[in-house]
Formats: sequence, structure tokens, C-alpha cells
Amino acid sequence: MNILLVGSGGREHALAWKIARSPLLTRMVAAPGNPGIAGLCETRPLMVTDVEGLVALAREIAADLVVIGPESALEVGLADALADAGIACFGPTRAAAEIETSKAFSKDFQARHGLPTAAYGVFETVDAASAFLDAQTPPYVIKADGLAAGKGVVIAASRPEADEAVADMLGGRFGQAGARVVIEEFMVGEECSFFALCDGETAVPFGYAQDHKRAFDGDIGPNTGGMGTYSPAPVLTPALARRAFDECVLPAVKGLAAEGRPYKGVLYAGLMLTETGPRLVEFNARFGDPECQVLMLRLADDIVPWLKACADGTLAALPEPKWRDESAICVVMAADGYPSSPVSGAIIRGAGSDFGGEAVVFHAGTRRDPDGTLRSAGGRVLNVCALGATLHEARDIAYAAVGTIGFPGGFYRSDIGWRAL
Ligand code: AMP
Ligand code: GLY
Repeated sequence: MNILLVGSGGREHALAWKIARSPLLTRMVAAPGNPGIAGLCETRPLMVTDVEGLVALAREIAADLVVIGPESALEVGLADALADAGIACFGPTRAAAEIETSKAFSKDFQARHGLPTAAYGVFETVDAASAFLDAQTPPYVIKADGLAAGKGVVIAASRPEADEAVADMLGGRFGQAGARVVIEEFMVGEECSFFALCDGETAVPFGYAQDHKRAFDGDIGPNTGGMGTYSPAPVLTPALARRAFDECVLPAVKGLAAEGRPYKGVLYAGLMLTETGPRLVEFNARFGDPECQVLMLRLADDIVPWLKACADGTLAALPEPKWRDESAICVVMAADGYPSSPVSGAIIRGAGSDFGGEAVVFHAGTRRDPDGTLRSAGGRVLNVCALGATLHEARDIAYAAVGTIGFPGGFYRSDIGWRAL
């Protein structure tokens, strides 16, 4: 099979690493890819939102499947354009992806279908938002409606902070993405990322992981896209995983189909494990990053038949996915200043070494100079991942590898996995 992989982060490097092992693969091209991905396949410098260019590239390489990594490509309708061109695609249409790309749509959808989630309101004016806040107690949860690169959520401890967040968002800080705000009830519990593959009709549980969203050790500092993950996460017991699938994922997939937005691809349910059971924090229309990295390490099956079955509507014909018994961990090495203002351009040494054991390094935000020097080029720069017989062992292997990488101007959390350890 010829496969076009769209994206440039650690998630896509992990997908490329897994796809590259498939005996079904003839040729893989990534657009735009990154220096890590370039070690596995050909790359082409196209933006993930260049719909025309990507469809043309898929045609050029006679792609049997296009695998879309990031939500920004979904939001501009890449999956729709590929469908029009008759090219199989792993990733939902623009309308189905609204479950992530519009929080207002997503919350209204969840309410229509009785999914367990936080109470909420959607507002377009400061006055209306303010009146709603009057009836709430702190902490206040305020979200920009649209995609805001992980920066559109504010958990405000006080009313003035909440008012400021509302004014900021409605005042245009995120452009059109902040034209509406969602204000939610604050939920208490542990968070967990749950994944399901979907082919429009059928959904199959496809692993889960726990992320660390705060920038610094001890879960303090600003919210980030994710500083590290591990899988499995013992907090999600088999009974809770069953409930998450039955109560959150399945009704969503059925609801989307019933509303004429059949969902193909991976559906990511961000869960809060509350006293009353799993409740939805959000849906995402893609693999989590860096959740995908640990899932790819643990997946025992060839990934390609799974991705293709989502595109073709044939998931029901596959047996249950098989996972390795080992634990996987991912430690994110980020650039100083991340998430607000990451500093790029620092030289990285030792990221391509053979670490032995079960460690593997995925590139998330790197670039290579013409002379071969590797430099940081983004907020999250490297994902150092490992498999181990236990989470302890996986952690030791990953941190040993982190210790051999030279990345001045970077930082990482030293406590990934602490909740389970
Ligand atoms: P989101 O971008 O919706 O995932 O929100 C980012 C983070 O904010 C989540 O990972 C949670 O830690 C937190 N959060 C979002 N919504 C809520 C909520 N309703 N209650 C408690 N925490 C929340
Ligand atoms: N790691 C969280 C996300 O991908 O949204």
C-alpha cells in the first residue's frame, strides 16, 4: 500500500514509526513531516492545511490511504476533499470533526444525546456570560468555542479572573475561535484519555493513557498540550473503561451518524473520572499527542489494517486489537518558555543515538540545518518513550535516555507517571 501521512509532530512520528513496520507498506510519504520522520520515509514540504496540494500529492503517489494527524487539517476539510477525489482517508470530515473544533457544537451535541458531561452555557456577549457566572461558584471553567492551540481554556479561581477571561476571549484574543465562549461546571476527579476507532458506524475501543497537562513537576504551572503520558493507566479499571465506551463513546458515534455526520477515524474522549463515573471533559477528532506515542509502542498489531478499516467502513470484520502487556511511557522535552513563548533554535545532541533497551525518541518540534545540525523548532521538541515490564522499568529506561540527550534550553517533567507509581 502507498500511504500519505499528514502532520509534523511527535504524534505523526510515532504513527510513521508504527506504519513503517507494516508488511503491507509499499511506500510512505509524509507532509510536511519532520527530521525524525524523514529518517523513516520521504517528506514533502506542504502545510497540513494545504488541501489542494495534499490531494494532488495523494494522487501523485497513488495513495491507497491518507492518514491525517492534526485537527487543523480536519477543520479545513481535508477529509472531505479526499472523499470527493475518491481517496481513502483516516480522519473525519469537517462536519464530524466539529465535535472537537467547535466546543459549542460539541456541548450542545452531548446535551442532545444525554452524554455525561459538565453543565454549561454558550455566550456571545459579556453581559450574558456575566449573568451566568453570577449563578456559578468558583472555580470557573471558561473556554473559547474554536481551536486555540490548547490555550483556549481558563480555569479561574476568582470572579475577577473569570470576568477577565471572558472579556479577553470575546474581545478577540483568539479571533473567530473566541466569538463565542462556553462556561462550564467544574468537575472533580482524575483525567484519562480514552480512544476509539470508528468507521462511521462501528466503534472499537483502542487504548487509553494518562497525560500530564501542567508544565511542571507536581502538576503545577500553566496548562500545556501534554508533558508526558503513560499507558495503561491503572486508574481506568476495566469496569470504568467499559462504562466510558458504553456511556460516552458509543452514543456519540451513533449520534453523529444519526445527525448525518458519520465519524471515521479515531475519536478521543477526554474523561474526568468523577465520583459518579466517567464524564466527558471534551472530545477530540484525532489521536492525542503525546498519548499516541505510548499507544503505538504498546500496539501489538499491525496498525495499517486498522487505519484502512476505519476509512473503508470494515471495522466490524476485524478481531479485537492486541496490546503488549508492557507499560509504555513518554517524557516530553520542551523548549524553555513553553507553552507561552518557546525559544527555538537550540542545538540538540544525541537524539538519534541508539539507546538500547526499549527506548525510542520521537521528534515533535525539530528542524535540521543544511549541515545536519539538529535544532529545536517548536514548543514540545522531543518525545522520549520507552516500554518496560512495569511502569517503573519503563520510566527508568526513558529517563536514562533523557539523561544522554543534550538539549540546553529545554526542560522536562521528572515525575511522569507519578499517579500510578
Ligand atoms: P480542554 O482543552 O477542554 O481539554 O481543557 C483543558 C484542561 O482544562 C482539561 O484537561 C482539564 O484539566 C481542565 N478542564 C476543562 N474542562 C473542565 C471542567 N469542566 N472541569 C474541570 N476541569 C476542566
Ligand atoms: N495530549 C492532549 C491532546 O492531544 O489534546
